[in-house]
Amino acid sequence: MHQSNPNIDLRNYLSNYAFSLGDDLFSSFSTTRIEQIAIDNLLTIPKFTNEFWTSKQRQANSIHEVSYRACFKPQLPKFFIELLTKPGDVVYDPFAGRGTTVIEAALLNRNVIANDINPLSEILCKPRLFIPDFNSLQKRLNEIPIRNEIKQDIDLTMFFHPDTLNEILSIRSYLIDKKNSGIEDEIDMWIRMITTNRLTGHSKGFFSVYTLPPNQAVTQDQQKKINLKRKQVPEYRDTKKIILKKAKALLKNLTADQIERLKTIGTKAVFLNKDSTETEEIKSNSVSLTVTSPPFLDVVQYARDNWLRCWFNNLNAEEIGKKITMSKKVEDWCSVMSGVFKQLYRITKPNGYVAFEVGDVRGGKIKLDEYIADIGIRQNFNCVGIMVNEQSFTKTANIWGVTNNSKGTNTNKIVVFKKL
Ligand SMILES: C[S@@+](CC[C@H](N)C(=O)[O-])C[C@H]1O[C@@H](n2cnc3c(N)ncnc32)[C@H](O)[C@@H]1O
Repeated sequence: MHQSNPNIDLRNYLSNYAFSLGDDLFSSFSTTRIEQIAIDNLLTIPKFTNEFWTSKQRQANSIHEVSYRACFKPQLPKFFIELLTKPGDVVYDPFAGRGTTVIEAALLNRNVIANDINPLSEILCKPRLFIPDFNSLQKRLNEIPIRNEIKQDIDLTMFFHPDTLNEILSIRSYLIDKKNSGIEDEIDMWIRMITTNRLTGHSKGFFSVYTLPPNQAVTQDQQKKINLKRKQVPEYRDTKKIILKKAKALLKNLTADQIERLKTIGTKAVFLNKDSTETEEIKSNSVSLTVTSPPFLDVVQYARDNWLRCWFNNLNAEEIGKKITMSKKVEDWCSVMSGVFKQLYRITKPNGYVAFEVGDVRGGKIKLDEYIADIGIRQNFNCVGIMVNEQSFTKTANIWGVTNNSKGTNTNKIVVFKKL
């Protein structure tokens, strides 16, 4: 567990990176606050605090705008991918979620491996590597027959107008048939991804009556209460129109070159649906950089929040929920993360990196970053340091699932490791 000069590395990298971005950013790096953190009474590691990236400085691509519980901003993986890899390298996310790391890496011409225990992750991420032509998407949507006779297996009338529900059931049944016959293509996958995303939300851009934001579905009973309280009944929503509008918004600032690049990377991309402690499929010494964010203890209920999205995709939310890491106790969480780091050490190339984002939980009493630093070091990684990105508070920050701390700033903590 000996560490030599642990802080030199990151500073070098940061300054190299800053030069390539211009003096403004470099001067802001020079104001980086550095403190030394004692880990397990055995060694100290540096903690760097600054506003390393902001959403203003570096606008994210519209193709990311798919909501998911506790997703991070694209600027986070972008920072590390540009800093620590080159085109053609392999970038991995063992807790891929909506695929922020994977999509950003593909945009930057890096090869990608995605893993998530929740199959919704691939449903939301993979189609965005294969961008369909808008007219073909429109044509396909219009070909889907809207049928009135489909029986619903659960009562969803508290969310949707009967005609909207008929449309949703028709699209669902069309997609199930296509999948079961093994002929679901890229356009169908795109329709599945957007429909999953548009099911429920709190504006007219969603199929449902007003409810929680799209990544958090309430139960049927809770929705009935919301309807009573707000004296609302679900209005008709034109599902096909909403799907096309969302498709346009996602494609808004993708260039032809980027579409081509996403496809090239997409055809080589690997998607796994495993527990991230059991990713034997990934070759040893093959990954240049992992950028990821695991579940923080039991803060987010991924399965409960996704029950309606699972229903639409014919997935069993309860079964998925059993496999998702939910730890009340930090010891249990650490034991899972040790298993994850064992895999990460095996698959990371010599001189490769891991950037592992964690937040403070239980009101800041539990510092997961310091636990992670210890876990990574015990698996033989060199801990380069902890980077704390402190960003001035903006209203939109909430949408991206970033924690707002009491000082009115958004903070991400990323523990950076190198395999020597
Ligand atoms: C914080 S979210 C990741 C969000 C992602 N960074 C993004 O931007 O969308 C954590 C993810 O870990 C997944 N997950 C939970 N336990 C897992 C496990 N044991 N193995 C693999 N994935 C797991 C959840 O399904 C969830 O998608």
